[in-house]
Amino acid sequence: MKPIIMDVDTGIDDALAIAYAAHSPELELIALTTCFGNISVEEATRNSLYVLEKLGKSVPVYEGAGAPLSGTLNKRYARHIHGEDGLGNALKGEPHGQKAKLAAPDYIIKQVKERPHEMTIIAVGPLTNLALAIEKAPEIVPLIGEVVVMGGAVTVPGNITPHGEANIVADPEAAAVVFASGVRLKLVGLDVTLQTLLSSVHLETWRNSGHELGRLFAEMTEFYIGAYETRYPGIGGCGLHDPLAVGVAIDPSLVSCEAMRVTVVTEGAAAGQTVGSTEGEPRIKVCTRVDADRFLQHFLSRVI
Ligand code: BDR
Ligand code: CA
Repeated sequence: MKPIIMDVDTGIDDALAIAYAAHSPELELIALTTCFGNISVEEATRNSLYVLEKLGKSVPVYEGAGAPLSGTLNKRYARHIHGEDGLGNALKGEPHGQKAKLAAPDYIIKQVKERPHEMTIIAVGPLTNLALAIEKAPEIVPLIGEVVVMGGAVTVPGNITPHGEANIVADPEAAAVVFASGVRLKLVGLDVTLQTLLSSVHLETWRNSGHELGRLFAEMTEFYIGAYETRYPGIGGCGLHDPLAVGVAIDPSLVSCEAMRVTVVTEGAAAGQTVGSTEGEPRIKVCTRVDADRFLQHFLSRVI
């Protein structure tokens, strides 16, 4: 079992990714750490606790950054994509559990030091928590097993600016810190995640599953698919961005990667753009191809 921390900004695809990880015997989900992004960090914490309760999983949730390293939000929350509550307006009530005491970056530092070379961090929101951890304790960099990041658009257009992907645009400085740190990193960007689409035909099975999680996931994902249809008319489904990062952590053969140096534009209209080059160091594994059908079948067999 691979021990993982998931760093999330729990919107809809984050919730699907959490469930996929929690139901996968190859992974040991140790904790969630939360970040602002799709919604505020407090809402990300609430949604994470809520989803874990619906999953019947007792996993600690450590709250992290409420704003990017620069201190000011440079992109609005994504309520038009993820709903007012971040879960497609499917949230019914508040979770019973409470967040854990430590701040997310301190928890990451502590956990990595306790299990050197073992931890995989699956980061599917802005990279602020990881950047704060690396800035505070750079000695953790060689001790992290691997970071799998959902973020960036190296070979394809962006989804929030012409070249910028939402998680990187939300905190370009944080992404720049993490990418330049030399940490072992795999980048699961729009290059591959927009090839993994979930269509509404799959939601019937969830809706008729006879349990609450299935109904919740069908309701929230229906909202997400609707938002994708508005954003990309005729697309026929929603991008399984964050679940694909989990899929890659479970089975790296789902994707093929190219080793590149990736820099991040941190200023101006192109802030958040991820620029790949086959020259220079450090190298990051940029996922450029995905076996989308095999991933989708695997995801559907595990998620609820
Ligand atoms: C990423 O942005 C967020 O809206 C999603 O949860 C995903 O992590 C896709 O660009
Ligand atoms: Ca996310």
